[in-house]
This record gives sequence, C-alpha cells and structure tokens, in this order.
Amino acid sequence: MADQLQHPRGTADVLPDEAELRDALVGTAAQLLGEAGYQHIDTPIFESTELFKRGVGGSTDVVRKEMYTFEDGGGRSMTLRPEGTAGVARAYVQHGMHKLPQPVKLWYHGPFFRYERAQAGRQRQFAQIGAEVLGSDDPLVDAELITLLHRLITAVGGQQIVLKLGSLGSLEARAEYRQLLLDYLRSRESELSEDVRSRIDENPLRAFDAKDPGTQAVMAAAPLLMDHLAGEDAEHFAEVKAMLDVAGIPYEIDKTLVRGLDYYTRTVFEFSSAALGAQSGVGGGGRYDGLVQQIGGPATPGAGWAAGVERLLLARSPEHRSTVKRTPPLHVIVAPGARVAAFQLAHVHPDLATIDLSGRSVKGQLKAAARGAAPVLAIVEPEQVTFRRRGEDEVTVPLADAHAELHRQLAATGTVTFYGDDASDGPAA
Ligand code: HAM
Repeated sequence: MADQLQHPRGTADVLPDEAELRDALVGTAAQLLGEAGYQHIDTPIFESTELFKRGVGGSTDVVRKEMYTFEDGGGRSMTLRPEGTAGVARAYVQHGMHKLPQPVKLWYHGPFFRYERAQAGRQRQFAQIGAEVLGSDDPLVDAELITLLHRLITAVGGQQIVLKLGSLGSLEARAEYRQLLLDYLRSRESELSEDVRSRIDENPLRAFDAKDPGTQAVMAAAPLLMDHLAGEDAEHFAEVKAMLDVAGIPYEIDKTLVRGLDYYTRTVFEFSSAALGAQSGVGGGGRYDGLVQQIGGPATPGAGWAAGVERLLLARSPEHRSTVKRTPPLHVIVAPGARVAAFQLAHVHPDLATIDLSGRSVKGQLKAAARGAAPVLAIVEPEQVTFRRRGEDEVTVPLADAHAELHRQLAATGTVTFYGDDASDGPAA
C-alpha cells in the first residue's frame, strides 16, 4: 500500500463540527461590522511579492522569513498573502476608492499564510477576520475599531482578555525618534544579537521584539517613543484613551508595543488572552497613515485590525465551547419502494428535513430516529405517509395530502411558521 498522505505541517483540515463554529463566528463578525457600516471586501489570496515588500516592510520577520513566495508561469514573483491590510490598501488605490465619501470602512475574512514554526495556536495557514478604515485620521476611528474588536471577542466568549495600547507617533515623530534610538543602539552595539545588529538601520524599533537576553538588557534602558510623544501625536493618543474610558474598555499602556509589521503609525493595540499560552495574541492592529502612499497611492490615513479565527475559538470560555447543533424539525423514514415519495416530501423544505439515507429497515430507522431530537417523524410508504409528533396521536394521510399535513404538523411544533399556503390557518398548538 502506498504511504498515507497527510496535510502539510502547520495546516489543518477543518472538520464539520469546527467548520460550523467558524461559520457562526464569521456570521457574528459580519453582523457586528455590517451594523457599524463596514462593507465586505474580498481581495486575492496571492498578490505581487512587491506589495508585501513595500507594504509590510522589508525588515519584518514576515517579509524576511515567512512568505510563501513563488514564480508564476509568466516569471512574476507572487506571494500568498501573509496579512490582509496591504491587499485592501492596494484595492482602495486601484479602484479609486479615495474618490468615494471618506472614510471607507471595509471588513474581510479568509486564509492567510506565514511560514512560521508551527505550534499550538500558530499555523502556517490560518484564518483572519479583519477590518480596515481608510481616509480618516480621526481618533474616533481608532476608538471605534478597538471597540468593535472588543465586542467581537466578548461576543464569542473570549476569556482572560487584556488590551494593550501604545502609540508610535506620526511618521515625522518616528523619524526623529528613530535617530535617537539608532544613536543609542550604536553606543551599545556590541551587546546586541547578530540578528538585531544586521537590521539596525532598516528598522531599529524591531530591537524591542528581540528574544535574546543581551539585546533585552540593552532595550530595557532604551529611550521610549511614548516618552517623547508631543503635539498632535500626544493629543491624538489622549483622545483615543479618553474614548476607550468612556466606552468602559480597560487597557494597559505598553510603551514597547511595536507589533510585527512596519506600516504602523500612532495608535497600536493588541488583545491577548492568558488562556492561550505562548501564542496569546487574539487580535491586534493600529493606524497606518503612511501605507497607502507607500504602495503608490495618494497620501491617505488608515487604521484597522485583524483577529485570528483559530485563536478566537481557542480563547473561548468553557461555557461558550459547547456547540448548539440545529436539528431539522422533520425526520423522514423511508419504507421500501417509497424513495421517490420521501424525496418529494422532503425536498420542498430541504432545510427542515433530514431523510434517513441508511438503507436500513423501517424498524432500524425508527430506532435511530428515536435517538435524534426532531419533533416530527414522517414514515413514508408508497401510497401514504404517517406523521408522529411528540406527545400526539399519529396521523396517516394519503400521499396526495402529505404536503398539507406536513405543514400542519410542523406549524404545530411552534418552531416553523408558513405563510400564504394551505397551512396558513397558523399553528394549531
Ligand atoms: P497580526 O498581528 O500579524 O496583524 O495578525 C493578527 C492576528 O492574526 C493575530 O493576533 C493572531 O490572532 C492571528 N495570527 C497571526 N499569525 C498567525 C499564525 N501564524 N497562526 C495563527 N494565527 C495567527 C495583522 O495581520 C495586521 N494585518 C492587522 C491589521 C489590520 N493592522 C491594521 N489593519
């Protein structure tokens, strides 16, 4: 026998139980974001490699080590999207969305790809739900986004959630601070890890992310941008905080929150859950006032977030973990010779009926049906149908009347209402 094949490391088959949970989660997000005026957008799963190099930034781990990059048939370099913001920003520019009333509020969900060391909560293919607002630098936007992500995490039952908040300042303030930090890092260069040293010029801020003790010791004494926030940057951040206070969303200020992507300016935030272990980030984001210009569009402020679908599900408290399975209210038993009749009865309302496809005897099918939770049972024979509703006498009708009787039976359960047909005399119960 040939070797049994497995899915690639860091990927997962989403089996029906979990698929149902994920659909419900995306449904919750769609409703929440839709009601807040966000419109659904779907961008390609692969884009030109250049987009991520310019958008996400050449000094990030994501671009340096984690991209699934390939050459297509025409010799162009393509990359499976490692995140969603760059693609949405590209679509905004490409379709002239800056000419629409601003800001443009968008949301998305789908698969993303990063070649990372796979472990619990960290995969090479994962799913995100994300939201982006382009065309406004108002701190209201930042506060609305954070509030929405908080509501989403709360709605799915996220437990032990902490919100960390920081500000990276405007592009100009960052440039000034960058020089300050660079001078400091140079003064202690010999204590830094090789990896950090090689990237000092590209993005000295990333040194805050370093894991080696030597660099961490240096960074503990490094000048912090948040201590240098001034003017409009300081005001912007103060307003975001004031709005979160009004919304009653608790947060911790984290002066070293840099996040793993280069496009951030001003507000950055991250929700984590202590229930998740090492990979505790449930969702995060921030403002990216330079990104649209960076990828060739007009100067346009923006802000957004993304949350990992797998991590949202892992962060749920125990009482949110049980799945509520929807049982169709009708269970159809198929007697010999009655396959077409059973199909005819059930197909009118495919969402309300389960047909027994097991091919077992009627007795066997009845036994299986007794284990289920459907309130109405229909035993379909070639000439007639017998309905059994829990707690009621059974009713047998000729096939020609079966449809009308089915409506009466279902309506009587109180779970289904039919309008404008022969059962419109309403629920009997
Ligand atoms: P990110 O922090 O890189 O941000 O990812 C957002 C979320 O995606 C993380 O908090 C985590 O839940 C999930 N995630 C990331 N990598 C993995 C992985 N390897 N396995 C499982 N889950 C993962 C962004 O992607 C930005 N585009 C967010 C954003 C939108 N910023 C502004 N707008």
